[in-house]
Amino acid sequence: MDLIKFENFYYRYKGNEEYALNNINLKIEDNKFILLCGETGSGKTTLIRCMNGLIPQFYAGFYKGKVEFWNGKNTVETPIADLSTEIGIVFQNPENQLIAMNVEHEIAFGLENLGVPVKEISKRIKESASITEIEHILDKAPFELSGGEQQRVAIASILVLEPKILILDEPTALLDPYMANKIINLLNEIKSEKNISILISEHRLDLILPFSQQIILIKNGSIIEHGYSEQVINGINFQTLRLNKPVIYSIFSTLKKENLYNKNIPASIPEAVRSLK
Ligand SMILES: Nc1ncnc2c1ncn2[C@@H]1O[C@H](COP(=O)(O)OP(=O)(O)O)[C@@H](O)[C@H]1O
Ligand SMILES: [Mg+2]
Repeated sequence: MDLIKFENFYYRYKGNEEYALNNINLKIEDNKFILLCGETGSGKTTLIRCMNGLIPQFYAGFYKGKVEFWNGKNTVETPIADLSTEIGIVFQNPENQLIAMNVEHEIAFGLENLGVPVKEISKRIKESASITEIEHILDKAPFELSGGEQQRVAIASILVLEPKILILDEPTALLDPYMANKIINLLNEIKSEKNISILISEHRLDLILPFSQQIILIKNGSIIEHGYSEQVINGINFQTLRLNKPVIYSIFSTLKKENLYNKNIPASIPEAVRSLK
């Protein structure tokens, strides 16, 4: 099933001459782990803003084409508040997203607004706090938390709404490598436990590639490739993008150049080991 579908979609921010998105045709399927990958300024955040109606409803600009959802809703006619329960988005800086007095209220906030019964709310809080491992900080204030904890709380407060897809825009940008690794492992657990789609824009390719099933490559506001990870990382587009490539990738592409290896470049250490056996 396609959860989100872009059709001949263009977008230009008000005041800019250039289009930030050019003729986007893209299908986001259910139950997939998808990496959105592109250089800084290529349009990743803009594309994500189009997935829950922030563009065109909140940002001033001009668009052509359409963005539709599996249930027939679209990003022009459906209020952002309605979309946000089904399309969950976590932005780079969770601090801006956390508003309540303590973590428990923060997670309950969306459900209270929806009028979900109290018993159901506490059941769902327990579940999402357990999966994100924040049960021990439920009574803390958001400003008392570390960056990694804040990011977990932001994820929990969206998971509790039981969205069809969780979208994250560079969620580890402000975290140290250890915390970044923990968040990405957490996302993988969420994916397998909840069977929802995860779409993530992420620069730490070393950490994210082992989990990604699909990769979307974006350049200058255009999708230049979208496919299975193994195919995409072995293509010329990935090779030429100016990204911080994973160590595994660099080793195996050098071996290939030297004619010491002739199979596909692996995406993870276990895959590399399998391929060498
Ligand atoms: N709120 C905005 N107003 C005007 N231009 C913007 C805005 N946000 C992003 N842009 C422009 O859109 C282009 C794509 O930016 P962005 O989507 O943030 O890229 P990325 O997330 O890949 O770094 C850039 O040229 C950027 O300057
Ligand atoms: Mg961005």
